[in-house]
Amino acid sequence: MTGISEFSRRGLLGGVAALGVVGSVQAQSANFGIPSLAAGNAAQDSAFWAKVSALYEVDRSMTNLENGYWGIMAKPVLEDYLNQTNRVNRENTAYARTTFGADADRVVAELARVAGVDKNEVALTRGATEALQNLIANYNRLQPGDSALYADLDYDSMQYAMEWLKGRRGVNVVKIAMPEPATRQAILDTYAKALAETPKLKLMLLTHVSHRTGIVMPVKEIAAMAKEKGVDIILDAAHSWGQLDFAIADLGVDFIGFNLHKWVGAPIGLGYLYIRKGRLDAIDRHYGDEDWDVNDIRSRVHTGTTNFAATLALPTALKLHEAIGVPAKAARLRYLRDLWVAKARAMPNVEILTPDEPGMSAGINSFRVKGKGSKDDNNALVVALRDKHKVLTVRRSGVAKGQCIRVSPALYTTEAEIERFVAALAIETAKA
Ligand SMILES: Cc1ncc(COP(=O)(O)O)c(C=O)c1O
Repeated sequence: MTGISEFSRRGLLGGVAALGVVGSVQAQSANFGIPSLAAGNAAQDSAFWAKVSALYEVDRSMTNLENGYWGIMAKPVLEDYLNQTNRVNRENTAYARTTFGADADRVVAELARVAGVDKNEVALTRGATEALQNLIANYNRLQPGDSALYADLDYDSMQYAMEWLKGRRGVNVVKIAMPEPATRQAILDTYAKALAETPKLKLMLLTHVSHRTGIVMPVKEIAAMAKEKGVDIILDAAHSWGQLDFAIADLGVDFIGFNLHKWVGAPIGLGYLYIRKGRLDAIDRHYGDEDWDVNDIRSRVHTGTTNFAATLALPTALKLHEAIGVPAKAARLRYLRDLWVAKARAMPNVEILTPDEPGMSAGINSFRVKGKGSKDDNNALVVALRDKHKVLTVRRSGVAKGQCIRVSPALYTTEAEIERFVAALAIETAKA
């Protein structure tokens, strides 16, 4: 692709153009052709969601309910990304050595605006992994003999990084298990107990939305309890920003790792870290970075050569994210979750792993066939759903109470696709 396509001509790259990143493209319509949301029930406005769904080019021969892995780019984002890739390839190092730095700076300013934080509180990374590893590894407030804590539901590579602190910092590393059923109160009680009983606890890893079960942690309440005890939290927000409607400042957490290629739908290879103003000194410069001043958050990430085009396409992804609207996204994903969960709860052999309590789940949810928590049991069901019914889900391990199957719809998912999954689930679990 060499030219600016129909999407781009219609102004769908407006965000980038407005930033001056794409010189020749003029900012025009910024709403991507999405109609206004009808007043009332945002999640079920069929005209609105049909238009949003049509922004994604999806192979519907398989009902894809495995969107927790990453979120595909909508067509306007993909087009921008391809155009940016062509442009960077064409303009070569002459571009990278001259204007990219200023362009990237404007992209980060735009990200900070959408995130509602200061520009010097965020730095781009290649994903949540890089963001969180940098925060965990470079957190410098731990002394030998202190404790650091994480939970069974946390992401594997973050668990590894927490365990690695044992050798690196000489700390005692504690792993706790999340309760089942995972009610808000049971989770708060679990953290209250851990905070009370773990000697010299200084650091906790917490995951906002679990990639295993989909549980949404009551972060604000846990952070308040932790703060009272002088315990810092590093929050894994890989699945929350873009899927849930929240303000970063309201969480009360000073260190957060985010993803942009899951629920924001940016090109793969983008995430960011957040360090609250005034806390930069608790995180060391990454491998002694000297490119940036010690007071500049960019010194906390040192990626090397990055995917320039992905960075340049981020404003279009953010613009679409805003055009659909965060409350509408959150409501739609929760509605799609409720649609299948309500029916699955009535199936005699199915256990749902997140509660219906407001605020405790988002679009991602997991289930288990009662008494079937093994890898083989869950693999067999994933394969049956995929091969017999053409519905894609994924097995998740690492839950203390047994393995499970994760179901994660996307904004392009239709109600009919959810029904297809429900029908398949009823058939496959009836004989369990
Ligand atoms: C909870 C959680 N944390 C961190 C990550 C890592 O994100 P990435 O692979 O984009 O770096 C993931 C990815 O699936 C995740 O689910």
